[in-house]
Amino acid sequence: MFSSRTDWLLAPNRLTRQLEERRREGLPVLDLSESNPTRCGFAAEPEILKSLQDPRLLTYEPDPRGLLRARQAVCDYYAAGGVSVRPEQVFLTTSTSEGYTYVFRLLADPGDKVLIPQPSYPLFDFLAGINDLEVVSYPLHYSENWYIDLDEMRNGWVPRAKAVIVVHPNNPTGSFVKSGEFDFLAEYCRQNDGVLIADEVFADYVLEAGDDRVLSHAATSDVLTFTLSGLSKISALPQMKLGWVVVSGPKGQLETALERLEVIADTYLSLSAPIAHALPALLEHRKKVQPRIMERLNSNLKWLDRETASCQQVKRFKVGGGWYAVLKVPETVSDEDWAVDLLATDGVLVHPGHFYDFADDGHLVLSLLTKELTFQEATGRILARISKSS
Ligand SMILES: Cc1ncc(COP(=O)(O)O)c(C=O)c1O
Repeated sequence: MFSSRTDWLLAPNRLTRQLEERRREGLPVLDLSESNPTRCGFAAEPEILKSLQDPRLLTYEPDPRGLLRARQAVCDYYAAGGVSVRPEQVFLTTSTSEGYTYVFRLLADPGDKVLIPQPSYPLFDFLAGINDLEVVSYPLHYSENWYIDLDEMRNGWVPRAKAVIVVHPNNPTGSFVKSGEFDFLAEYCRQNDGVLIADEVFADYVLEAGDDRVLSHAATSDVLTFTLSGLSKISALPQMKLGWVVVSGPKGQLETALERLEVIADTYLSLSAPIAHALPALLEHRKKVQPRIMERLNSNLKWLDRETASCQQVKRFKVGGGWYAVLKVPETVSDEDWAVDLLATDGVLVHPGHFYDFADDGHLVLSLLTKELTFQEATGRILARISKSS
């Protein structure tokens, strides 16, 4: 009765079962996986709701790309970062997930492939699978800093690959694409009739990245590029459900992509008028919330450094940007075992590296967005547990 693409393994994993059991027993959990900004003390003030009461939203003015005034606000956002984007390059969506679907439907036939970084955002498997695509991973390695294994790519283009996805900065490694890597990837795509898809939802949160990072892929003009972002991270407003795709690239390809995407977007017209009209104000909200989030991220990172300095078994990887830190922990047990044990014994919830498809064991992922006191108590318990176990 059901499609093979929905034949998922839906049984809860060991960590989820452990969490459910703890919650059933009423035991407390120090949650270091929390990255919902509205639960981390960054819910917007109620006055933001005024932006949803624009009388203009009482009329229906469908536009496949989204209300022009709202798209102009997206262009203003890029202009503030020194990147020039025209409103006709912008498609508003209800999320980056929807943006991925539009782009995948534009580019690929069933069975085609997309290249994704490994480790990275766990949703890629689902986003690709729902659109009948297969993912092929390209590795990121760490040595003082994260880098893309370009040598692996030099082995050749993957047959039926349509796109290379970069996450800038990546979740959870925090690594930005560096300009040398971008030059390679742009040429790699150009030579093989592929495109670049750049997910920049965390791009405003720069922590330890160097100047060699790409400013924004939306500025790309020499290879067809789809840059995705949205309010969920930029303005810490995931509940508003607004994302976008900026299309850029060589003139002929760009025009065809825009024409065809317009048909896809016109078929859904998915954005609601209240959110479209509110977008200029919702984007403006970033100026209030981003400094507070940056303070939290920096403060938690600093604390982590102080604590890990006296724990030889644990190393923190460099965090270019974003909301996560990765700890390298001993590989004496699997990272899932570490996570289950930390939850059962210490009441601390962390994501094991394998959720993000790390190639080997010994990685725990922490959300730097968590409130300071929770973060400090929880990381203290993690380091104490690891020290005791080794
Ligand atoms: C890399 C990446 N892209 C996109 C998203 C989600 O964006 P949206 O809420 O717009 O779908 C996330 C959420 O954590 C993410 O990590």
